[in-house]
Amino acid sequence: MKISAIITAAGLGNRFGEKKQFKSLCGQSLYHYSLWVFLDVKIFDEIILVVPEENKDFIKQDIKTVFDESIKVVVGGDTRQDSVRGGVQASNSHSELVVIHDAARPFVTKKLINASIMGCENADGSIVAIPPVDTIKYSKSFIIESTIDRKHAWLAQTPQTFKKKQLLNAYKNNTSKFLSFTDESSIMEEMGYKISIVQGSDRNFKITTNDDWDRAEAILK
Ligand code: CTP
Ligand code: MG
Repeated sequence: MKISAIITAAGLGNRFGEKKQFKSLCGQSLYHYSLWVFLDVKIFDEIILVVPEENKDFIKQDIKTVFDESIKVVVGGDTRQDSVRGGVQASNSHSELVVIHDAARPFVTKKLINASIMGCENADGSIVAIPPVDTIKYSKSFIIESTIDRKHAWLAQTPQTFKKKQLLNAYKNNTSKFLSFTDESSIMEEMGYKISIVQGSDRNFKITTNDDWDRAEAILK
């Protein structure tokens, strides 16, 4: 079975203040960390990196300098969802599985990637997620409407792996209500596809803010 990896690195980093994925974290661009791990899995027929248009040429050159293997660089879109879709559309027509990962999660491991792939064995897709440690409240306007039973709540991370045929089908049936979805799993769930959960790790956190960056630096030091 052919498997494609899609690493999303086309965001603007508004909450961070700059394009964090290209910033140097302890001597290496943040996006390199995920690429090293994905290359090390050696299961992928291709690795696709999704980047902003204005960075494409520089990143292609950077990849040539840093990595020995071939990585396909494609241009992303305005939302993460557009960027992932661009990556999926650029993937090999023979690939049956797509593994999607955020470049902003540098501490992904081979184990998590493999678990995410295994999680698709009896499902249409699988996501890595962790149980919340805090109690989760639901509110649209600062007044609590309900409390979500923590026992059954999960915080979604990446990698997220999907059967490509089903994902393309979900895209085809995409309507405007999907626009607010922040991950592909939501689109798949809406279609009624079966998505399994595999246990993620706290360490696989996403760098969103400057505090997250400090946490990443502290781990690497
Ligand atoms: N991403 C992407 N294309 C977009 C938006 C996000 O490829 N149009 C990627 C980011 O580069 C990141 C991952 O999706 O690796 C998760 O997104 P997030 O942490 O939200 O990063 P940004 O969108 O860059 O940050 P912000 O939302 O603060 O602007
Ligand atoms: Mg974002």
